[in-house]
Amino acid sequence: MVYTKTFNGMKCRRVGGSGLWISEVGLGLWKWGDPNYDQSRIGEHEGFKVLDRSLELGVFHWDTANSYNFASGNCERLLGRYFASRGSTVREQVVLATKVSNSARPEHVTEYSFTPNQGGASRVYIMNEVENCLCRMKTDRIDLLYLHQLTLDEEGNYETPLEETWSAMDDLITQGKIRYLAVSNHPKNNIKDILDVQKTVAKDSSRRIIAVQNRYNLLERDMVAGEENGGSEKAFLDFCQKESFGIVPFMPLATGLLTGRYRKDNLDKVSGRTVEEEIFKETYLTDKNLSIVEQLNEIAKEKGITLPQLAIAWLLSHDQVCSVIAGVTKMNQLEDNAEASQVELTPEELDKIDSIVKKG
Ligand SMILES: NC(=O)c1ccc[n+]([C@@H]2O[C@H](COP(=O)([O-])OP(=O)(O)OC[C@H]3O[C@@H](n4cnc5c(N)ncnc54)[C@H](OP(=O)(O)O)[C@@H]3O)[C@@H](O)[C@H]2O)c1
Repeated sequence: MVYTKTFNGMKCRRVGGSGLWISEVGLGLWKWGDPNYDQSRIGEHEGFKVLDRSLELGVFHWDTANSYNFASGNCERLLGRYFASRGSTVREQVVLATKVSNSARPEHVTEYSFTPNQGGASRVYIMNEVENCLCRMKTDRIDLLYLHQLTLDEEGNYETPLEETWSAMDDLITQGKIRYLAVSNHPKNNIKDILDVQKTVAKDSSRRIIAVQNRYNLLERDMVAGEENGGSEKAFLDFCQKESFGIVPFMPLATGLLTGRYRKDNLDKVSGRTVEEEIFKETYLTDKNLSIVEQLNEIAKEKGITLPQLAIAWLLSHDQVCSVIAGVTKMNQLEDNAEASQVELTPEELDKIDSIVKKG
């Protein structure tokens, strides 16, 4: 049973064992930026209205990264302009999460060569890039900073000694630029390595990582383990429970497939995502997935909810999941997803969903 609080009608959960509260439904901002310039799908004009509405609905956990939309940095810049226009009261309501390790270009530059120090997990990059993030987002602190990717060399060893990465992160907390730390795209063994190192480099245990953001949705359950080939959902959830980590699933709607937009009988009529259409087709638009989606849609209809709400509520049925950051590019998507916080799936419904997903 998860202990929750409520803000503007939205249930909130603590992130793992920390004192940080976030809204159960968050906002995934991957496709936000400057659509004329970086192939994002939503820009400032509509974006500001969605952000305003998001706070009205209690959706105050916002997830971005320095590198979204082809390393343009524009998602963070959009947020910076938003915070500047709305003032500190609004900034204080938001739990602002961003990520570093990938590179991000200066503004208005399309062709840019990065030196080896402009990416990765070194002290020099992390310290420099956090300054850049703060500058782009026009804020003096980041509430939750993720190490975005594992950075390994060709032999699979850490490219930067873990002590260097995590003591730099700890320094950023001391400097007041970061409130909490987290990792993304990390499997269990690498997380364990970080915990070991943090015992030495972190000033106290409240500075250890509190959340893991890995891919997790009804169609890709084992992906939560952060391993490309063959992790185990159950083992990873147990690990997070034992270590008191919050899980923030990314691609919770299987990048759009769990919206019900794609069906066997309309595949030639709907357009997939423009940016990664081929990857999307190969990974998701399989006969098995489409048949699962059809059956899940029936359960959603019987319950009087939408398929995205069912997919989000299913993730939230796991105590370890602290917030679901579905990507939103339209106002009605935000409003639809926010309602998932009110949906309780019964044990019978959860069993039925489980058996559909397992049988296909
Ligand atoms: N840590 C990482 O490496 C990583 C990687 C990927 C994503 N992420 C994070 O996770 C977030 C979510 O992932 P995602 O955006 O890739 O995929 P997603 O949440 O699985 O799917 C998002 C897409 O589903 C559609 N959608 C959302 N809500 C809907 C609704 N209620 N009704 C109908 N359609 C709806 C939208 O499609 P249209 O835009 O086509 O309308 C939206 O772009 C990202 O925004 C980002 O913050 C992190």
